[in-house]
Amino acid sequence: MRKIIIDTDPGIDDAIAILLALSAKKELDVLALTTVNGNVDVEKVTKNACKILEVAGRTDIPVYKGNDKPLVRARINCEEFHGDDGLGNAGAEDSEKEIETEHAVDFLIRKAEEEKGELTLVPIGPLTNIAQAVQKDSGFVKNIQEVVIMGGAEHGGNMSPHAEFNFWTDPEAAKIVFQAGFRKITMIGLDATSDVFLSPTLRELLYLINTPISRFIHKMTRVYADGHWEIEKKLGCELCDVLTIAYLLDSSVAETVDAYVDVETSGLCDGASVVYRTFYYPDKKQNCKVAVSADTKKFFEIFFGYLFPEYREFALREL
Ligand code: RIB
Ligand code: CA
Repeated sequence: MRKIIIDTDPGIDDAIAILLALSAKKELDVLALTTVNGNVDVEKVTKNACKILEVAGRTDIPVYKGNDKPLVRARINCEEFHGDDGLGNAGAEDSEKEIETEHAVDFLIRKAEEEKGELTLVPIGPLTNIAQAVQKDSGFVKNIQEVVIMGGAEHGGNMSPHAEFNFWTDPEAAKIVFQAGFRKITMIGLDATSDVFLSPTLRELLYLINTPISRFIHKMTRVYADGHWEIEKKLGCELCDVLTIAYLLDSSVAETVDAYVDVETSGLCDGASVVYRTFYYPDKKQNCKVAVSADTKKFFEIFFGYLFPEYREFALREL
């Protein structure tokens, strides 16, 4: 059983990632959700974290509110993809759940100390909270077993030709995290997440499965799919954050390469993750693994296998 903390900006794909993590009861122990400004502002993001736990019947999991803006830059958000409320305006009920009073960054530092090397961090939003924990506590990095990040890209971007949203939003934070010296970082970027699109057919299957969770995902992803069509003329929606959880459950779902990654914080390629594959650049000291592709079939085997096991075969027939 792996102990994880998901640092998140729900966010539609964040919500689906959290639901998948919670369905893997034997494999993952979700200790808490920590929230950060990203897809929408941190107030909405934090309310959304509680709503998601309500839908999953897991309001026992604590939620800690984090940074309301990047380390040094102005706040940006992404309502066009995630809707004004951040969950696809799908009408998710407000939750009575109280959030914790401790700031997310102080919690991350405290929990890392308590769990002493047994903790995996899963940041699936901008890296502001993680970077601030590195800055605030000299022992934080060595107390963390592994970091599995959704962010960046070896090639391309979704906010500029070279920058992915989570790194684009707070490049200074991303740079700090990759330079901090964590024992093990895996960067799940757009090169791999572009292989995990929820197709209209699979989205329809979610509707027909007709459970509260399947219908919740179906409703939320309407806005997400509309955004992919209007902005990128892509059919379906990219389950970016969900791939980090699938990777935790079965790392063979993604092909990774050893790399040295640094993040640009100014100029034309601001927010870009510059990926030096150490095979080609042996003078660079490896600081992470980078996912360069994902196995679509295996991903949906995991997705439906954990969330809707009796429909796994139906889903695989459609791939
Ligand atoms: O670029 C994709 C990332 O940006 C995902 O984490 C999504 O939730 C958005 O935050
Ligand atoms: Ca996210």
